[in-house]
Amino acid sequence: MFYLKYRPQTIFEIDNLQAKETISKILESKTLPHAFLFVGSKGTGKTSTARILAKAVNCLNNKFSHKTSSYEPCNKCANCKSIGLSSFTDVVEMDAASNRGIEEIKNLIRETSFLPMSGGYRVFIIDEAHMITNEGFNALLKTLEEPPNSAIFILATTNLEKVPKTIVSRCLKINFGRANATDMFSMLKRITKNENIDLHDNLLKLIAGHSENSFRDAAKILEEVTFQKIKSVDELEKFLGIRGRGDLIEIIEKKDVKTALAWINNFSENGGDFKNLIEDMLNQLHRQILIKNNISDIEGKKTTLTLNEISLLMKLLIEAYQNLKNTPIDSIPVEIALTEFYNKVEGKKLI
Ligand SMILES: Nc1ncnc2c1ncn2[C@@H]1O[C@H](COP(=O)(O)OP(=O)(O)OP(=O)(O)O)[C@@H](O)[C@H]1O
Ligand SMILES: [Mg+2]
Ligand SMILES: [Zn+2]
Repeated sequence: MFYLKYRPQTIFEIDNLQAKETISKILESKTLPHAFLFVGSKGTGKTSTARILAKAVNCLNNKFSHKTSSYEPCNKCANCKSIGLSSFTDVVEMDAASNRGIEEIKNLIRETSFLPMSGGYRVFIIDEAHMITNEGFNALLKTLEEPPNSAIFILATTNLEKVPKTIVSRCLKINFGRANATDMFSMLKRITKNENIDLHDNLLKLIAGHSENSFRDAAKILEEVTFQKIKSVDELEKFLGIRGRGDLIEIIEKKDVKTALAWINNFSENGGDFKNLIEDMLNQLHRQILIKNNISDIEGKKTTLTLNEISLLMKLLIEAYQNLKNTPIDSIPVEIALTEFYNKVEGKKLI
């Protein structure tokens, strides 16, 4: 599995630029925070980075063991290796999705009072931290306030809103955000280079733009694409179910309902995926709002749709997205959305 094989092993290999820079600065500085909160959507590198950090502070060959000036883990010493195999006693990983209660947290807190056995720090990684119960959070609060010198907590979550403010304010928050297409592209490049895979950059860009901002998804798609020996943009678009998706917004701009409905019919007959289609359209429309308002420096063609039209279309597409669950025929929700859209903007009844 590419996504496991290419899980970053050093800070340098983290392709999420924003997170990479923040972590580097922290590891370069003299003092180390004792509680971190990693926030970001799925597959953005929270767990990977937590493990790298655990290795870095326990490595026997870097600045934390006064051997070199580098903060990177060497990935060769006994400590790095054993952390890599999840068999290092000073790194405790807990999945709060299944260990969320007061007892589990109390056990964990008890563990923090022990001194490290073979490393410099005991690192406690709590994944899916937002799942911890209220009692659990309360118990954790005190320890986070005055953690033992040799303990480092790393809480990782996809859902910041569900983590109590009192906890958030005691942690150093690092935003993993949603991986952007450029970061994702450099991860795909890293993999293709290593695996000697010959795929044009255009294809990699298409995969990057289509991975719901998850590095894991991007790596999985790349693996499937290689496996299926897909070589052309055409084949790839078909594989991703996004064939000619760019056209649809252009067709909608022309306010020609017949062509739009024919396009949808064709898309459906070619086995297109409507969930992906709607997600893509929403993404494009969202980008258009930013472009039109000069909020972002994304380059791209400006649509001729007005802001009002864009927001109406988005609203209808979100409804269509929800209706996908309940429709016997996949194309119907988008057809309804478009018909309503034309009805409203043209202000007249369609045949
Ligand atoms: N920043 C990154 N750079 C390169 N690859 C990454 C990065 N983040 C994630 N990946 C890839 O995605 C996979 C999943 O990453 P990881 O488990 O660290 O994500 P996560 O944020 O913990 O996701 P989740 O919230 O789903 O647990 C990794 O095995 C790796 O292949
Ligand atoms: Mg994770
Ligand atoms: Zn090491």
